[in-house]
Amino acid sequence: MSEIAERPFGLAHEEAGEGVPVILIHGFPHDHTLWTAQLTALEGHCRVIAPDLRGFGASVATPPYTIDRYADDIVALMDRLLIERAVIGGLSMGGYVAFSMWRRHRARFRGLMLVDTKSGADGDEVKKRRMQQIEIAQREGMAVLAPRLIDTAVSARTRERHPDVAERVLAMMTRQPVDGVVGALQAMLRRADSTPTLKTIDVPTLIIVGQEDVATPVDEARKMHDAIAGSTLEIIEGAGHLSNLERPAAVNHVMSEFIGRLIYA
Ligand code: MLT
Repeated sequence: MSEIAERPFGLAHEEAGEGVPVILIHGFPHDHTLWTAQLTALEGHCRVIAPDLRGFGASVATPPYTIDRYADDIVALMDRLLIERAVIGGLSMGGYVAFSMWRRHRARFRGLMLVDTKSGADGDEVKKRRMQQIEIAQREGMAVLAPRLIDTAVSARTRERHPDVAERVLAMMTRQPVDGVVGALQAMLRRADSTPTLKTIDVPTLIIVGQEDVATPVDEARKMHDAIAGSTLEIIEGAGHLSNLERPAAVNHVMSEFIGRLIYA
């Protein structure tokens, strides 16, 4: 059991299925319902666990907010659930958390799934944009900030052909607590560059990216694929930044194949 497990803080989470544990970490500003389609589709193959990060969904909004603390919170959840090793999957900010987890707790990994994410830290322009978003969230709330995030979250094609999906994403973003959102923006702004971490990753790794992802584009996924020895890259056609939600059947298929290979390896 890790030291943090003793602290009176627990992440809310949803889980389904039995067998090899697979932990799916949501991005920003999401909650565990980002993974609803994967909880349903993968439960026949493995034990899927989708937590709400600190300050999101039903997990309490208690500082400090850092990417490393989010990573330690996931490990504390693993301790609580008596899980020694798991396949860790993270989408976008969830990927940043997975990189930190790898640096701090690599013995807890059975495999890694990097979904619509990137390894680099924020440049000056992105930092400035995050500061503006902090101001908007604090001054006007998520009802104003969330609609400004939707175009980078979901592809133009999904917005046009599946407006219900875009509406679901918007509702999920809008209901996140301002304190948690501001904390996450500060955490991302201060996060370490994970590029040097890539070459240290030596567990089976699946990289998934939506072909139309404008937030963490295909080029970023290719860079991670080139740097992580033996990794698999899957490009999901017709999907943007939230590929698991925009093309759930395609993402479920590549995830279940990857997990199946791990189980029967
Ligand atoms: C996310 O989906 O988690 C965000 O796009 C991450 C970020 O803003 O860097």
